[in-house]
Amino acid sequence: MFDLPNDILYSLDELSETYGLNRNGARAYSELSENYRNQNYRELDFSQAVAYAQGRMPATYGVIKYVLERFKNTGRNFSNVLDVGAGVGALKIALRDSKVSYEALEKSESMRKVFRKLNGDNSKIYSEDFRKFQAETSYHAVFASYFINEIKDKILALKKMFDLSEKYVFILEPGTPSGYKSILEAKKIAAELDWYPLMPCATQDCKLSGEDWCHFSIRLPRTKHHAKLKNAALPYEDEKFCYVIFSKKETGFFENNTVIKRPIKKSGHTIFDVCTSDGIRRVVRTDKASKKLQWGDQL
Ligand SMILES: C[S@@+](CC[C@H](N)C(=O)[O-])C[C@H]1O[C@@H](n2cnc3c(N)ncnc32)[C@H](O)[C@@H]1O
Repeated sequence: MFDLPNDILYSLDELSETYGLNRNGARAYSELSENYRNQNYRELDFSQAVAYAQGRMPATYGVIKYVLERFKNTGRNFSNVLDVGAGVGALKIALRDSKVSYEALEKSESMRKVFRKLNGDNSKIYSEDFRKFQAETSYHAVFASYFINEIKDKILALKKMFDLSEKYVFILEPGTPSGYKSILEAKKIAAELDWYPLMPCATQDCKLSGEDWCHFSIRLPRTKHHAKLKNAALPYEDEKFCYVIFSKKETGFFENNTVIKRPIKKSGHTIFDVCTSDGIRRVVRTDKASKKLQWGDQL
């Protein structure tokens, strides 16, 4: 459900073949990872952009699919979107079977080049730095995945996202303490601008405290090529992420009961850690229906 479509996997392989990255892709990927680990978000060269598409985009795509699916399940939708820091077009791929009109903003020339190779030439991609972007229009939704953590002027970028959107703002970040901190910053600015968090919880302040951070996880299959690039033995990877969707108009969207950890399944009962409007609670359920609930669901 969260895997990249086969034709994109095929294009990725072709790209590597054409540019000789099947031989030195692991090196380009390890340079890229090293930069991310050191929070060194310098301009990527073309081989690093291809390595990003192969090594990271399957996971960011999976997370985007997960978040879009949950949003869709609430009965909401949007008809056009600006994808800020679009990279190689993970959101574009995720939306390709929908009627949503899509525009991207991506400052890296190498990323834009790989975006076009994977998605064709039809998308509108603004090439400027988001901080200087002068929009021609506003959007129903503004979307940023794995972007806020990278940008220097986070507050300016966040305010601009809210400013450009008429209805929804989506922010997806790595499931790390630093990604979570960006989500908290976004929540603070949203509250100042009268925007409301819809998902994964509807509380303006976070109920977690101490060393804990709110995040979720999806399991993704690894292709042979992906495993080789990452020097990995397991046929799957777990991608941890944080996210928040804000709405301009809606408050009190649902009774807040978000399962914020992997449920602990025992014989005859399941233990859930749940975020409620009154704080974090541990809940034990014995009914059959609860057995199916997963991390991220509403109890
Ligand atoms: C980690 S990538 C995420 C790409 C994509 N959204 C995804 O989920 O796979 C972050 C992208 O943001 C772009 N970026 C960073 N700062 C930017 C800025 N100030 N203006 C426009 N793009 C920016 C980078 O070039 C990079 O392609």
